[in-house]
Amino acid sequence: PPLALAAAADLAASALNPSMDSWDQAPAASALEADLTTALAAEIYPHTPSPDAVITTGGTEANQLALLLARERHGPVQTVCATNTHHSVARAAWLLGLPEPVTVPAPDDTMDPAALAQTLTRLDRPLLVVATAGTTDTGAIDPLDTIADLCATHGAELHIDAAYGGPLLFSPTHRPLL
Ligand SMILES: Cc1ncc(COP(=O)(O)O)c(C=O)c1O
Repeated sequence: PPLALAAAADLAASALNPSMDSWDQAPAASALEADLTTALAAEIYPHTPSPDAVITTGGTEANQLALLLARERHGPVQTVCATNTHHSVARAAWLLGLPEPVTVPAPDDTMDPAALAQTLTRLDRPLLVVATAGTTDTGAIDPLDTIADLCATHGAELHIDAAYGGPLLFSPTHRPLL
């Protein structure tokens, strides 16, 4: 559910309708965007000297960008996801001409790390694992630490789809879940 502040911000954005094409067309909004992306990136990478981020139209584009960046870095990556992964990941692989994702089971709506370990052992590199922080239907969060360790061990890239769960970073209570 949106916060009152978010609804008010949407009203202001709709009324002002700033074009974000260039700084000349929307200098104030461009400055706000730069501040926002820096602040968001610092939430996720607090120890990185100059963290930065990119605003996308939503989770679908964010997932596509993740697969695109992995493809640019490593060539035709094999995506590994789980049955709880948002369907935009398979769609992105198809759009980018990448192999169809290999899907591991997700009992209780979270990725099974044992099944992931087996899959990473048998597949050829380059590999990109897509984990989920907050599934669309139940808000379930994959065991991110374990998955990150497995990716490091097996030399796989890791993308976390936090389209839904990412804002938990703003909650002092729930932040450690991420
Ligand atoms: C986990 C997750 N990833 C991706 C998406 C796609 O996001 P969007 O509809 O903003 O493209 C959603 C949407 O619900 C989602 O819950």
